[in-house]
Amino acid sequence: MGRKLLTYEDFRQAAKRALPSPMFHYIDGAAGDEWTLSRSTDVFDDYELVPEYLRNIVDVDLSTKVLGAEMAAPIILSPTGMNRLFHHEKELGVARAAEKAGLMYSLSTLGTTSIEEIAAAKAGPKMFQIYIHKDRGLTLEFVERAKAAGYTSLCLTVDVPVAGGRERDARTGLTMPPKFTLSSLMSFVAHPKWSLNLLRYPDFQLANVVHRQDGLKDGTLGVIQYINSQIDGDIGWNDAETIAKAWGGPFAIKGILSAADAVRARDAGATAVMISTHGGRQLDSVPAPLDCIAPMRDAVGNSMELILDGGVRRAVHVLKALALGADAVSFGRPYLFGLASGGEKGVSRVLGLLLHALRRDLLLLGCRNIADIGPHHVRRVMGR
Ligand SMILES: Cc1cc2nc3c(=O)[nH]c(=O)nc-3n(C[C@H](O)[C@H](O)[C@H](O)COP(=O)(O)O)c2cc1C
Repeated sequence: MGRKLLTYEDFRQAAKRALPSPMFHYIDGAAGDEWTLSRSTDVFDDYELVPEYLRNIVDVDLSTKVLGAEMAAPIILSPTGMNRLFHHEKELGVARAAEKAGLMYSLSTLGTTSIEEIAAAKAGPKMFQIYIHKDRGLTLEFVERAKAAGYTSLCLTVDVPVAGGRERDARTGLTMPPKFTLSSLMSFVAHPKWSLNLLRYPDFQLANVVHRQDGLKDGTLGVIQYINSQIDGDIGWNDAETIAKAWGGPFAIKGILSAADAVRARDAGATAVMISTHGGRQLDSVPAPLDCIAPMRDAVGNSMELILDGGVRRAVHVLKALALGADAVSFGRPYLFGLASGGEKGVSRVLGLLLHALRRDLLLLGCRNIADIGPHHVRRVMGR
C-alpha cells in the first residue's frame, strides 16, 4: 500500500488489484442499474459551500457527541458483513483503525468476527447492527450479547425484507466461504496473495450466528440465499419497539428515507435514524440520502439525531451533509477498499486522510467546531 493512495478512486483501484473479482464486485456493486449508488455521491455536486472569512480561526475541533457517545469527529464506520472475504484482518482490523482514530465502529450481524472479539479490540464507541432473524431467540440474544459486551449503541437495519437485485453478484456467484468455480478460478489464481491468505486464515464464518445455524458450519452458502432464508421480512414497527425496549440505550434505525418513517421510528423508540439506501444495494431508484435530510429534519425537529449514510467520498461531503442538517455521516465502501488494499493500515490511511481534510476544510469554511456549521454554509448550485 503506497503513499500515492490519496482518493476514493485510488483505494478502489488498489482493492480491485488486490481482490479476486467476486469479492471486489461484492463491495463495489449495487442493485439494478446502480443509479442510486452513483446518485448518492453525485448529489453532493448539486450543493455548494459558502465560507465566511476573517474569523481569527487557527485551529478547529472536530469532536462531537452522537448516539450518546463522544467521538473525535462526526464519522461512523457503517456496518458491513463478511469482512474476512476482503482481508484476513477482517472486522478486527477495521475496529482497531476506528479505535485509533477515535471514531464509532459498527459491527454487522453478518460479520466474520464475534460481538465479543470486537469488544475486546475496541474500547471506544461501538454499535452493533441487527437484522431481525426468523429465529427471534437469536435476535434477542444479539441484544443481550451487545449489552454484556459494552456496546454503546444498537442499530436495526430495516431495508432488507428481501435481498436486493445485485446483478454483479449473480454473475460472479459469490459464496461464503469462497468457492472455486470454473469461472472464478482464473481470478483466484491471478491474486495469489489473497488466495494464499485464504488457506492460512480459513476463518470464514458468520461468527455471530454460526452457533445457531447448523447449515452454516460446513457448507457454502450464497449471500442472497442466506438473507432470503434467515432474515425475517415479516416485521413491523412493533418489532422495532420490542428491540428498542430490550436494548434501552441509544438506538438507530437504518435504511429509512421518508419523513413519515422517521417520525414512526422516533415513536417506536429510536434516538437516531441512519438515512440510508444500503449503499444502493437494495431498491434501486430510491433517492440519494442527502436529499432526504431536509424533509426529515422538518418533520422531527431536534427530537432525534439524523445520520447521513452512504455516498460520502470526501471531507466536503461531510460538511455539506452537516450544513443540511445531519448530525453525523457514515460510510462503508471507503473503509472496505482501505481494508482490501492494506488491512488495518489501509483503513487507518483512509480515515487519517479524511480527518486531515475535514480539519482543513472546516477551517477553510470559517468554522471553529462542528456546532458552528449551519444552513448558511450551503446552498443549491444555481439552476439545479
Ligand atoms: C460489502 C458491503 C456489505 C454490507 N453489509 C451490511 C450489513 O451487513 N448490514 C447493514 O446494515 N448494511 C450493510 N451494508 C451497507 C452499509 O452499512 C452502508 O449502508 C453503505 O455501505 C453505505 O454506502 P457507501 O458504501 O457508499 O458508503 C453493506 C455495504 C457493503 C458495501
